Parts: sequence; C-alpha cells; structure tokens
Amino acid sequence: MTETDLPMGSKRGTAELASSYVRMRAFQENRARKLLELVAARPGEIALDIGCGTGEQTCDLARRLLPGGALVAIDPDPSRLDIARQNAADQWLEIEFIQARGEDLRGFETDRFDFIYSSYSVHWITDMPAFLAETYRVLKSGGRMVFECVGEPVHKIVELLAMMPSFDEIMQENTFQSDEIWREQISAAGFSIELFDWPVLELEFADVGAMLEWTEATSHGAFRRDLLSGEQMAEIRQQYPADVVIPFQALRGLLWK
Ligand SMILES: C[S@@+](CC[C@H](N)C(=O)[O-])C[C@H]1O[C@@H](n2cnc3c(N)ncnc32)[C@H](O)[C@@H]1O
Repeated sequence: MTETDLPMGSKRGTAELASSYVRMRAFQENRARKLLELVAARPGEIALDIGCGTGEQTCDLARRLLPGGALVAIDPDPSRLDIARQNAADQWLEIEFIQARGEDLRGFETDRFDFIYSSYSVHWITDMPAFLAETYRVLKSGGRMVFECVGEPVHKIVELLAMMPSFDEIMQENTFQSDEIWREQISAAGFSIELFDWPVLELEFADVGAMLEWTEATSHGAFRRDLLSGEQMAEIRQQYPADVVIPFQALRGLLWK
C-alpha cells in the first residue's frame, strides 16, 4: 500500500491519537461482544478482520479460532497497526497484520476466508460496491460476513466537525447510504442477507472533555480541540453541561456467500 492509497484519516493518524483511541474503547467493546456472538467463530476457521484498529477485538477473535485457525487483520492506519501488533505479541497470539483498505483486497486470493468480521469500520469505506465485490470474492463458498458500523451521520458529531475549517473535506471521508441502496449493492455483489438492521444506540461520555477527546481520536484528528475558539468552546460547554449521551443510528449485517 502506498502513501497515496491511504484514506485522509489514516494520513493524519498519529501514535498519540491511536493511544487516545485505546482509552476511549468502552462502547466498541460492548458492541464487539454482540458481534462476536453473531459471527460464532469456530476453532480451525480462517478469518479476516477489516479495519482492526488497535486490535483488542482482533485478539479476542483470534483466540476463538484456536486451535488450528488463522486470522488476518487489516487497517490503513499504521499507528493503530503498531499498537495492534504489540497487543497480539503481548498475548502470544499469531495474527497477520497488513496495512490495507477494505475496498482493495488484491493481496488475498479468491475463496480464502471462512468469514469476514468488521466492527465500526465499514462507514470509512469510500467505494462500497468495490468493498462488497472484494469481500465476496475472498470468502469461501458458504462463507459469511458480519459487520456493525455507523449507519447515518451522527448529528451531534457533525455539529462539532462543522466547527473545523476543513469540514467539507472531512465529510467526504465516510459513506452513508439508504437501506435501499445498501440492499441493491449487497445483492449485486452476490451476497444473501440473513440479518440487516439499523439499531439505535447511544454513545455515553463522563463529561464534555471525554466526548471531545473521543471525537478527536475517532476522526483521526480531523476534529481538533486546539482549533476551537473560546466562543466555540463556551457554546459546546453550554450545550453539554453534565453527562453526555449521543444517540445514533448503527447498521449491522450478517451476509452469506
Ligand atoms: C472505529 S475504528 C474500529 C477499530 C476496531 N475494529 C474496533 O472496533 O475497535 C475504525 C477503523 O477503520 C479503519 N479504516 C479507515 N478506513 C478504512 C478502510 N477504507 N478500510 C478498512 N479500514 C478502514 C481506521 O483506520 C480505524 O482503525
């Protein structure tokens, strides 16, 4: 993967943002438990984790494939991959980490994986038809793909991003599309749908500071607290006086080849 292939967010990725992201992981861990149940990994299976981030769930998944299985995990952000590799090494787990994007799986042969797992990364895919075609290709016949991601722009987070000078550019980094378009693209790729739903979930933060730190880390630094004016900061503090709860529309799928 070359520097120019990297999505904008990954180019901004830094070791500091990646570590900050690790501290903010409670929400993802709760959801991951459910997604791991849904994928029902079995010992001996060969799997691909798309958008593995800092690898905490990847390690959980790898353990479920033992003995005999194998896990490959991809992410375009080299700083997150560094942490993921260290996590796996600390737990004596053999996971192959590769810097790559979900829409370009050229490095993998056809019919390689029993299943694909992706947690809170699919909304970062910029070419969804390419992603669906590629994931279908690399799955074995009868293989499954399980994913959960953000389904619609999170209104409160978009309000924060709108305070940034590069707002228009930032808004190009994610893909959000209707249920109808999703289903058309999924069928066109050849998948059959077992589950495809839009749960409403909540992001909870202890205070405004935690919310702003999370927004910075999750947007790979597209949102920056240091770019906020005093007035903007006061406006934010007024809007979120105590605990912060942000509802959003998630999207979850279990698809079969
Ligand atoms: C919210 S994190 C989720 C990480 C991990 N799966 C978890 O739940 O903790 C989203 C990840 O998607 C990665 N990402 C961004 N663009 C991507 C793409 N085009 N293909 C695959 N992953 C991508 C980011 O680098 C980031 O690590």
